[in-house]
Amino acid sequence: METTAAFAGLSCVDCEETFDAETATHRCPDCDGILDPAYDYDAIDLTPADLERRDGDSMWRYAELLPFPRSAAVSLGEGATPLVECPALADAMGVGRVLLKDEGANPTGTFKDRGQSVAMTAAREHGASDVALNSAGNAGQAAAAYAARAELDAHVYLPSRAGFTQKAMTEVHGAELTVTDPVGGNSQIGDAGAAYTVAMEKHPEWYSTKTFVTPYRHEGKKTMALELLEALDWEAPDAVVYPTGGGVGLVGMHKAAREARELGWADELIPMYAAQAAGCAPVVDAYKAGADRHEPLDDDAIDTACNGIAIPDPGASHLILEAIRESDGGAVATTDHEILDAAIEVAQSEGLEVGATCAAAVSGAFALAESGEFGPDDTVVLLNTGAGNKDVDSLRAHLGEREAMERDGSVA
Ligand SMILES: Cc1ncc(COP(=O)(O)O)c(C=O)c1O
Ligand SMILES: [Zn+2]
Repeated sequence: METTAAFAGLSCVDCEETFDAETATHRCPDCDGILDPAYDYDAIDLTPADLERRDGDSMWRYAELLPFPRSAAVSLGEGATPLVECPALADAMGVGRVLLKDEGANPTGTFKDRGQSVAMTAAREHGASDVALNSAGNAGQAAAAYAARAELDAHVYLPSRAGFTQKAMTEVHGAELTVTDPVGGNSQIGDAGAAYTVAMEKHPEWYSTKTFVTPYRHEGKKTMALELLEALDWEAPDAVVYPTGGGVGLVGMHKAAREARELGWADELIPMYAAQAAGCAPVVDAYKAGADRHEPLDDDAIDTACNGIAIPDPGASHLILEAIRESDGGAVATTDHEILDAAIEVAQSEGLEVGATCAAAVSGAFALAESGEFGPDDTVVLLNTGAGNKDVDSLRAHLGEREAMERDGSVA
């Protein structure tokens, strides 16, 4: 297996044992905990000045801080996404600056590409022929694309509620798609997870690229924070508001902020704020209750149109909550009405297209601003995890509802 010089293996976040990445491929062989790529930071031969001289072509410009070198990467040019100034939102929130990190610019339109790029590289390095995962939609589409690139066969399990674009493109990329049957209207991520588990029992040789089953998805997503910090001259913003489902991106970004501090590139951590939909907010509930882990919600209790964050049982909630608390961030839930209104406001006031799920970060930031969480000079970063055009149905439907309410004279 081709790995980078400082990569020191996989460390279990629960029992703290370290394993050779050649033989340990997914969860901890001892306790089934989440494995996390570990590095010898003294061996990292890279400085911010070196980075300034490098092309901004993809997230692989940070390869020294990833397990695999660029030469091994399964890449479609993911990362290096724009950080766009949003003056109208800054005015409306009463803060110094609002910046939107636009992950919609990734090859399949979401930040999931970063995670699948590293996970698919690991799959190929481990000699896999097939990869499998369940997903809310976007990660399945990304896995199908990266598997195609790596010439691997992909098996993708999605709930019926996943979007048409995600289902369609998964198949267009040549993956085998299983959509779980609707249960009382729509099936949920857990139903897709159950179908995936049955398939994995039948095909133990399939290589999983599922959330926090592979150690490499949060590792790829940490490059969002490296790009952000580098764009801000290694000065942490006052807040990153992040639409949180399984927490892969939030946990990955927090890890990168810790690494930048460890390497002496940045002085401060990035305050990470988890934004969820009120109709599925297990992380926000746990944060407010002062708990270390979430209480799983029943599927029937899920009540949100935001597919990517309709995650009732996020298995890494302890890592999400630790990241929020250690970074002095927070957690906020807003209603679907507020979320979809926020997506329309961003589209109309800034011209930017945010997905329905991602708009939870925008409405969450508005709610935080209203509650006095931010100061007038603060820099607030919103993570637009996916392109608006992947969610056209819910965005246009909401616009239609607003228009109808205006016509009827009821409050919009
Ligand atoms: C667009 C979008 N944003 C956010 C999320 C939540 O991701 P995470 O696991 O990083 O919390 C998802 C997951 O499906 C998503 O598709
Ligand atoms: Zn362990």
